[in-house]
Amino acid sequence: MSVATAPAFNALPSSPAVAVTCRGVVKEFGSGQTRIRVLRGVDMDANFGEITFLVGPSGCGKTTLISIIAGLLTPDAGQLDVLGQRLGKLRGGRLVDFLAHNLGFIFQQFNLIPTLTAVENASVSLVAQGVGLGKAVKMAGEMFDRLGMKDQRYKYPNQLSGGQQQRVAIARALVHKPRLVICDEPTASLDAETGRAVMLMLKELALASTRAVIVVTHDDRIHSFADRINHMSDGLITGVTTQPPPDVDSTRSPVQPAHQES
Ligand SMILES: Nc1ncnc2c1ncn2[C@@H]1O[C@H](COP(=O)(O)OP(=O)(O)OP(=O)(O)O)[C@@H](O)[C@H]1O
Ligand SMILES: [Mg+2]
Repeated sequence: MSVATAPAFNALPSSPAVAVTCRGVVKEFGSGQTRIRVLRGVDMDANFGEITFLVGPSGCGKTTLISIIAGLLTPDAGQLDVLGQRLGKLRGGRLVDFLAHNLGFIFQQFNLIPTLTAVENASVSLVAQGVGLGKAVKMAGEMFDRLGMKDQRYKYPNQLSGGQQQRVAIARALVHKPRLVICDEPTASLDAETGRAVMLMLKELALASTRAVIVVTHDDRIHSFADRINHMSDGLITGVTTQPPPDVDSTRSPVQPAHQES
């Protein structure tokens, strides 16, 4: 009896170096004649110990894809392995528990809770893990110091600028040291210096061989922080470029020209 060759999307790598594997991921929105296929069979990997960028024009499906990787949206087809878990097999409380412990997500629209102070907002992921509120607020406060937000701790989101709200969202995503950090435009409303500080924090996290970072961005200023750049267009990954291994300091390695599909 001959052994049939498995279709590509079944060939999930078992290598521990791979943190996220997407194979043939499809997502559609709407119904009837207005139904649109936003992801058209995405294959993408993100490795442990790396910062993986996802870039592409507005509307090509970046936020949709990372929302699926983060378990916030369910794909219509395809397979997804996140930190060794087949995500589609986790349901209800097990999924919530897995995400709370392992994932930090920086949303494009911040999604802060308006009735909590900045430092309480940043403590939410720790509290969800069972850390006491006092200790969680203390740990979040330390993140605020690193992000130049010491004086903003007790303000409410509506008392903060867009850039300050973004830093609260960043503190919330990183404070519990998740194994997978997913960021949607993390530096979009930050000045160059703060943006660089944020990327250095992400780099520090990603340097651990048990952690991975995925960043969606339009911000050319931070491209040198990427280890691998996935180029997306019209619901598909159209190419991947990698940064050469750094000689001295990876954050200063030359920016690779974007790979263009013809
Ligand atoms: N909940 C939804 N219902 C219907 N259409 C949606 C929904 N979410 C996204 N879309 C559509 O899917 C497409 C991809 O959206 P997505 O937000 O993933 O793009 P993006 O690449 O992140 O864009 P941007 O760079 O502007 O953030 C867009 O055409 C968008 O209008
Ligand atoms: Mg988006």
